[in-house]
Amino acid sequence: MDFQNILNIIHKDCNRIENHGKIANYIPELAKVDPDKFGMFLLTNENESYEIGDSQEKFSIQSISKVISLTIAAELVGQDLWNRVEVEPSGTPFNSLTELERDKGIPRNPFINAGAIIIADVLLSVLDDPINDFLTFIRKLAGDDDIYYNEKVAESEKDYGYRNTALVNYMKALGNIENDIDDVLNFYYHQCAIEMTCVQLARTFSIFANAGKKISSKKQVISAKSVKRINAIMQTCGFYDEAGEFAYRVGLPGKSGVGGGIVAVHPTAYVVAVWSPKLNEKGNSNLGIHALEDLTNLSGLSVF
Ligand code: DON
Repeated sequence: MDFQNILNIIHKDCNRIENHGKIANYIPELAKVDPDKFGMFLLTNENESYEIGDSQEKFSIQSISKVISLTIAAELVGQDLWNRVEVEPSGTPFNSLTELERDKGIPRNPFINAGAIIIADVLLSVLDDPINDFLTFIRKLAGDDDIYYNEKVAESEKDYGYRNTALVNYMKALGNIENDIDDVLNFYYHQCAIEMTCVQLARTFSIFANAGKKISSKKQVISAKSVKRINAIMQTCGFYDEAGEFAYRVGLPGKSGVGGGIVAVHPTAYVVAVWSPKLNEKGNSNLGIHALEDLTNLSGLSVF
């Protein structure tokens, strides 16, 4: 498969189309990013890599971090985790409050904000030093120590995170939050404020393309069974109320973030990360989805 040629075609195609997306501005610090950035990096299970554009530039991974926090929580807590959060697609926006009351404070899945806040609370209870331990785990997955929190982004979100404050308070009232709500939000805002390049992101997620083994070192990090489950949640819930559309157009498990990043995996062939900051109305990268749709169409490699 000539992936470099495919990425070059995608690059040309993405330069050609008019991008009507809008940069996330509800976190003021994110609104400072150049909206026209575009990068992509693909790593095969044979450890061959291909890239285009701004693939080596760092950006805010935001909700993409929710997959890593879920991975740690599932490893450390096991089956009991699912008493506190479900694995059903929500069909509502990532920051929705509406179904939480009907569902008695048990979020629909770990990737909407409510569910990710539950996972943050779980990690606060089980990790010794959650903020440092989380970063250490990501650096280990990436095989790269040059990964940091952007404190300004975390602070900026804390200052304007009214919806997340509402979610955590409501779940606390219904008995589904164990820790102090400010501590939970502080950890959650930090995990979202991690900055990575497309290269680092793809390397971090390579375990989901390779049955739990890192592509570079072949080291088993999590079980193949955990990978199967987390990929299923990415496929059904990774894009919130656009999960069906993403499955239809791209056909890969994946996760987006409001920083404009998307990471997607072919569970037996490759991992790919793409970054383009302008978002569609569902909060997912407009051009990122377009690029991944091109990729699976041109390569013929999707899960469907
Ligand atoms: O909590 C928030 O709203 C952000 N820190 C993360 C949201 C996000 O990335 C949604 N994904 N597309």
